[in-house]
Amino acid sequence: MKTVALPDGARVPVIGQGTWNMGEKKSGHTNEVAALRLGIDLGMTLVDTAEMYGDGGAEKVVGDAIEGQRDRVFIVTKAYPHNASRTGLPKACDRSLKRLRIETIDLYLLHWREKTPPLEETVQAFEKLRSAGKIKRWGVSNFDVKDMKELRAIENGHNCAANQVLYNLENREIEFDLLPRLTDHRSPITCAVIAYSPVGHGRGLLENATLKRIAKRQDATTAQIALAWLLRQPDVIAIPKASDKNHVRDNARSIEIKLTKENLAELDKEFPPPKTKKSLPML
Ligand SMILES: NC(=O)c1ccc[n+]([C@@H]2O[C@H](COP(=O)([O-])OP(=O)(O)OC[C@H]3O[C@@H](n4cnc5c(N)ncnc54)[C@H](OP(=O)(O)O)[C@@H]3O)[C@@H](O)[C@H]2O)c1
Repeated sequence: MKTVALPDGARVPVIGQGTWNMGEKKSGHTNEVAALRLGIDLGMTLVDTAEMYGDGGAEKVVGDAIEGQRDRVFIVTKAYPHNASRTGLPKACDRSLKRLRIETIDLYLLHWREKTPPLEETVQAFEKLRSAGKIKRWGVSNFDVKDMKELRAIENGHNCAANQVLYNLENREIEFDLLPRLTDHRSPITCAVIAYSPVGHGRGLLENATLKRIAKRQDATTAQIALAWLLRQPDVIAIPKASDKNHVRDNARSIEIKLTKENLAELDKEFPPPKTKKSLPML
């Protein structure tokens, strides 16, 4: 599996696995665990979850999926903003560690930004957790350029390892200024970029006629084309969520697809890149 280096040099696969909507129903548990295990076997060893998903249920699914293979996986989880205070974050972290049944979170993210607690307080709380060994590194999610600049101006704000943002063919807003600034290693706000909802969150992107045409020519699926389009960029990590094993297999193989110049031009025509600054949407 192709990898990307995080700012501290740790390497993670360019395709990981999402878990939103997992852990919501008991009846889905066995399938979800099996899908994540298959994904890990196929090299998608970065697993993204959050305390929010399934009200902690998704973290429990991940805990079961990684049992006996903790060392092979890179666990990303996220805290609610209302838990990201000096006293709240250590408690939320302990709850996540317990559900995941691990000693350390590899990457702990602030799920999105709210007015309170102040960013300074969250960064301090992240740093304390890092010193205590409960997390290896921390980052943010749904942060636009302005938020990243504010973060960078805070003491230890430069330790932010990643920003997880909405990015797929239909949502190219980050290409205007956020993506180039995050991926330029000389930029003050540089960090890893994790693209969420990379195949469009099951909302119809995969039914698009242009995608279907390109998929047919490439002998691939539309999801594979959507992922290959993201992954042609060396610094982007994509985290598709798939509970269906066939989807998991497709996603792992998407890395092998090489889109041609013609394919890319057709995709640009159908899903034009942003010409102006648009605020960062979130799901
Ligand atoms: N930080 C944030 O605010 C935030 C927001 C949204 C998402 N996320 C993270 O990003 C992950 C991915 O985003 P997402 O779950 O919103 O959307 P997504 O991964 O773009 O789409 C998931 C949907 O696509 C289907 N799918 C996956 N692979 C497929 C394939 N090869 N062929 C056909 N269908 C396929 C899945 O079906 P099956 O499950 O049936 O296989 C599921 O219905 C989340 O799970 C979560 O971990 C983070």
